[in-house]
Amino acid sequence: MSERRYLLRTFGCQMNEHDSERIAGLLTSDGYVATEEAAEASVVVFNTCAIRENADNRLYGNLGHLRPLKQANPRMRIVVAGCLAQKDGERIQEKAPWVDVVVGTHALPGLLDLLHRAETEGPQMDISEVTEVFPSALPALREVRHHAWVSIAVGCDNACTFCIVPLVRGPQLSRPIGDVLAEVQGLAGGGVVEVTLLGQNVNTYGRDLTMPDSPRRPLFADLLRAVNEVDGLRRIRFTSPHPHDFTPDVIDAMASSDKVCEHIHFPLQSGSDRVLKAMQRSYRRERYLGWLDAIRQSIPDIAVSTDIIVGFPGETEDDFVDTLDVVARARFDQAYTFQYSQRPGTRAATMDDQVSKEVVQERFDRLVALQQAISLERMRQQVGTIVEVLVEGTGRKGRAQGRTRTNRVVHLDGDHAPGDFVQVRIAGAHPHHLDGKPVREPAAVA
Ligand code: 5AD
Ligand code: SF4
Repeated sequence: MSERRYLLRTFGCQMNEHDSERIAGLLTSDGYVATEEAAEASVVVFNTCAIRENADNRLYGNLGHLRPLKQANPRMRIVVAGCLAQKDGERIQEKAPWVDVVVGTHALPGLLDLLHRAETEGPQMDISEVTEVFPSALPALREVRHHAWVSIAVGCDNACTFCIVPLVRGPQLSRPIGDVLAEVQGLAGGGVVEVTLLGQNVNTYGRDLTMPDSPRRPLFADLLRAVNEVDGLRRIRFTSPHPHDFTPDVIDAMASSDKVCEHIHFPLQSGSDRVLKAMQRSYRRERYLGWLDAIRQSIPDIAVSTDIIVGFPGETEDDFVDTLDVVARARFDQAYTFQYSQRPGTRAATMDDQVSKEVVQERFDRLVALQQAISLERMRQQVGTIVEVLVEGTGRKGRAQGRTRTNRVVHLDGDHAPGDFVQVRIAGAHPHHLDGKPVREPAAVA
């Protein structure tokens, strides 16, 4: 019999990429082999995201395309996993009854069981809200050898009014520090040189944990320091943090841990105090800028990226100008800009004064133009410097591509394999990447 194959499509954030490595690991452990062709797949998995606008329409579109294939091959199994599965559950089975398994974000460990049960019992669903096994503890099939995602916490205790995450991923649950360390040690032993610690709100890690025989909780700063001690590892990143929780102990731990990279993601969301309040973000514009200053004082060459939402309900032209003003003052290296979209179930979705599409688009374009100029200016400041690049693969036009510790993308000359560290002189700047030429390491003195 020919091999059983699976096709896995991942949408959304790094947390989903991490979970997809586990989905691939589980399927591989059950004897499946990956394919890119839906027609030859015996299992098709969509690992879905609920944040983007029209995510559900796109899912039903994809499921619609699969329907004739499933009719032609009734043994094909279709799985919907991830945040939309968690959020929409039965609705998916009602709208697309040819789906065999709906598996929520907490139920991933039971995926193979659900698939086996679907063989004899028909469509299955598990969207229970309790995580018994951390997804990181599952076998993973990682496509990249030198880098790994490590989940340190799931869920979020905040209640930003635009955000669907607390609804689909639940309250924060941190993974015991010993389990995280054991995983990172195992990864480093297997050749991984860079890890990204993952959580919806990483810097509140540990608040829900206790330590055996100690009244103290392990906190994010403790975790950074401990991971920094792991032999073989060279770079530590983390995402996503909340600006409010960049407490001085976290900044100290970053500054004093040589493997922790000089880059933070510092999501602003809006530069208007009125809008921040309506979003239920805990800080205001001046406080945010003050925190940013303090971080830059402690870690002078740190690169900063951010998320900004344009067109939150009730956002006026004055509010938007406040956002432009904070952007101009903050000098972000990169900004991920989003047009506000109504997510059913969130508080903001029912707020009055939804901003019209045309106004949102016009503001969005102004924001992107401003940030583009700032990104380019920040990139130009890098020209002439010599930086360490970790090669990730080959980019467009066949050139090697990698990242600096500050998370800047560099296209470089010469043949380099993924996982190589190369010293590079920066020769050119673009808004989203740099051009670099490798420099020779000084010859060792005999
Ligand atoms: N509309 C637009 N952008 C959103 N984000 C989250 N929810 C929404 C929404 N309803 C953005 C935020 C968040 C990023 C991951 O996605 O900026 O930080
Ligand atoms: Fe969503 Fe992040 Fe706010 Fe949590 S902190 S509710 S994940 S935007």
